[in-house]
Amino acid sequence: MSNVPTQEQPLPISVKVCQHRTCRKQGAEEVLAALQALPAPNVTIAASGCLGQCGNGPMVLVLPEMVWYCRVLPQEIPRLVEQHLLAGKRVKEMLYYRFHPQG
Ligand code: FES
Repeated sequence: MSNVPTQEQPLPISVKVCQHRTCRKQGAEEVLAALQALPAPNVTIAASGCLGQCGNGPMVLVLPEMVWYCRVLPQEIPRLVEQHLLAGKRVKEMLYYRFHPQG
């Protein structure tokens, strides 16, 4: 009798988009809407409160990896979804320099 290998389920991804005051002023609502318009399997998108990085928004945080993106524009969302959420590769040019200084 052969053992069928169990397939590991990838961890669910959660994307938080800050919707607090400063990020909203910088366009966070449009960023959230753009993400919600491009659903990816195994990924949940949620509005969040202040992520503590005001002034660098709109801030987007990808969990559980803890990958931070700053000053995100709605037109950058298709690239983020395709490259990071679907293919698992960080979008270096969009990373938050403070937490990812090496890119
Ligand atoms: S308002 Fe978005 S990080 Fe504080």
